[in-house]
Amino acid sequence: MAKASKRFVCTGCGHVESKWQGQCTGCGDWNTLEEDTVGNLSAIADKRNQQAGGRMIPMNGLDAQVELPGRLRTGMNELDSVLGGGIVKGSAILISGPPGIGKSTLLIQATASIARQGHVTAYVSGEEAADQVRLRAQRLGLSDAPVQLGHETLVRDILTTMGEMRPKVLIIDSIQTMMSDAADGNAGGVGQIKASGSALIQYAKSSGCAVIIVGHVNKDNELAGPKHLEHMVDAVLSFEGDRSHQFRMLRAVKNRFGATDEVGVFEMGELGLKEVQNPSSLFLVDRDEQTSGTCVMPTVEGGRALLVEIQALVVKRNTEGGNPRRACVGWDKTRLDMILALLEARYGMPFSTADVYLNVAGGYRLDDPGADLAIASACMSAFMDKPLPRGLVAFGELALSGDVRPVPYMGLRLREAGRQGFERAWTPRLPSDVTTPASLEAKPIRAYHEIVNRMTGSAPN
Ligand code: TYD
Ligand code: MG
Repeated sequence: MAKASKRFVCTGCGHVESKWQGQCTGCGDWNTLEEDTVGNLSAIADKRNQQAGGRMIPMNGLDAQVELPGRLRTGMNELDSVLGGGIVKGSAILISGPPGIGKSTLLIQATASIARQGHVTAYVSGEEAADQVRLRAQRLGLSDAPVQLGHETLVRDILTTMGEMRPKVLIIDSIQTMMSDAADGNAGGVGQIKASGSALIQYAKSSGCAVIIVGHVNKDNELAGPKHLEHMVDAVLSFEGDRSHQFRMLRAVKNRFGATDEVGVFEMGELGLKEVQNPSSLFLVDRDEQTSGTCVMPTVEGGRALLVEIQALVVKRNTEGGNPRRACVGWDKTRLDMILALLEARYGMPFSTADVYLNVAGGYRLDDPGADLAIASACMSAFMDKPLPRGLVAFGELALSGDVRPVPYMGLRLREAGRQGFERAWTPRLPSDVTTPASLEAKPIRAYHEIVNRMTGSAPN
């Protein structure tokens, strides 16, 4: 039988040392090592774990009782639903987004709402002076909310203060400004982000206070430094949008406590961020007359359908040769090139002699192959200077053969189009389990030549 051996286990992080020492090398805490006697190890375990031995860990079946985590509701339904029903107590959440998109605004509004419910909340800004944040809060009508505000960048000082304050929610704005004395380098560097982030996350776990960390992304939407925190936090929310337009989308990229297919839609106005219940209203252009070159399509964002308008402008050139100009806002240029090549090669539309400009209205960024049919139709309509039928939406993926392929969520797309008062839809072939709203007539299209025939007048719309 193996002989009993001594070891010392950190009560904070579970790190094992073979002899006692003042500071745990695992978490850096002082006086947390306690003696733990290990004996009766089997010969195999002893061989594999010569230094420290190991403790038995509890193992249970999948049917064991699950305790659902307690949550705090922010009172902003769009934010709560993206989080899976509110902020989980003791969780660590990273909110990423480009500078100026509205992360600080969203968080001061959410914290104010939690504070008004009687919970202690702390907002630590490392970027803006406390008065700047205070002035913004006052302008947004939040000054009565008992949020505790501070300006600090040293994580050690922040956590010491939190130890006294015991908040339910702590906002750190932003991780790029935080400094930990456990790492070298400048604030915003990978070493500092990792060390500050892990201290803050550890605080969340040990105290039960939810910590929400802001991380700026660079212009390519990369989390850069804060990416190193993604695997450590419980949830990563990405705040997206176009700064020159009002709408903002909040989506869960990772969520240990909920689904990642929810998106929250907000509108940035003079009084901060407002939730948008009907996102389609943001992207549809009101007009009485149907103009050529526009086509509405129902797209899906995180399990939610919304309508966007695609606008194409075609300028025919008299001269042959040279590369025609193609410009896209809100859509992939390579995919536009492909669609135009398809229209030219298969249906004889001479797009190589025309400049094509494509815009998705409202600053929306479409990333949905289901937009192919609407884009091709908008380009055709612009080229022929002939409006598409009134009250029409179109969606479907185009194969290079010209076949129209089905896309996900077809029923959802049709329901949203019906709800917004659209009367007809050009769609891929619909499976029998997809129901079309009574107010809308769906016209399944097998191949794109059917649309070309409709538009050139050789077939009815
Ligand atoms: P901010 O929350 O500071 O962005 P981030 O923290 O992501 O960098 O928001 C910045 C922008 O939002 C700023 O350009 C102005 C605009 N804004 C409004 O339009 N209305 C408002 O009520 C507020 C507070 C900001
Ligand atoms: Mg900010």
